[in-house]
Amino acid sequence: MRKPVLLVVAPIAALMLGAALFGSRGEEREPWKSVVPQPDIAVKGRPSYVQDIKPIFDQSCIRCHGPVDAHNGLRLDSYEGVMAGTLNGPIVYPGEPSLSNLLTLIKHESSPQIWMPYHQEELSPNRIRNIENWVKDGARDN
Ligand code: HEC
Repeated sequence: MRKPVLLVVAPIAALMLGAALFGSRGEEREPWKSVVPQPDIAVKGRPSYVQDIKPIFDQSCIRCHGPVDAHNGLRLDSYEGVMAGTLNGPIVYPGEPSLSNLLTLIKHESSPQIWMPYHQEELSPNRIRNIENWVKDGARDN
């Protein structure tokens, strides 16, 4: 009589253990991956601020860098705000992507604590490419 009970209990126990192990490990590694995935966009050689760049900031940044919250004094809800940068200075140097903190943080080349968007899913590769191309092209208000 003991065998059938074991046959029922053992798989359930195994499932629960598995869920506990894999569930918690997945969350620890990438807590932001549960956020809604972004469909990717086309890469443009000379992106427009209004058409290509502002929508990315609106979607992924302005809830922390806009009228409600402006972490480090940074506002990304207007061209002027983007160019004014943080309390410490500019984040965009036109024509100089490697000097521009904006790119360092979204490309995850900074220390992990300040990767942007902060504790969220990273921007898609094509969004990063477009922001980089926009900076290379002079970070124009176009
Ligand atoms: C959930 C909130 C949140 C979101 C979303 C967010 N940020 Fe931030 N951001 C922060 C916080 C908090 C800091 C301050 C980090 C620190 O200095 O420790 C910061 C700082 C920054 C800085 C300045 C770092 C410095 O040099 O002082 C830049 C640039 C930046 N964010 C860009 C972005 C961009 C671009 C996006 C969107 C792709 C974005 N952030 C989305 C919270 C956020």
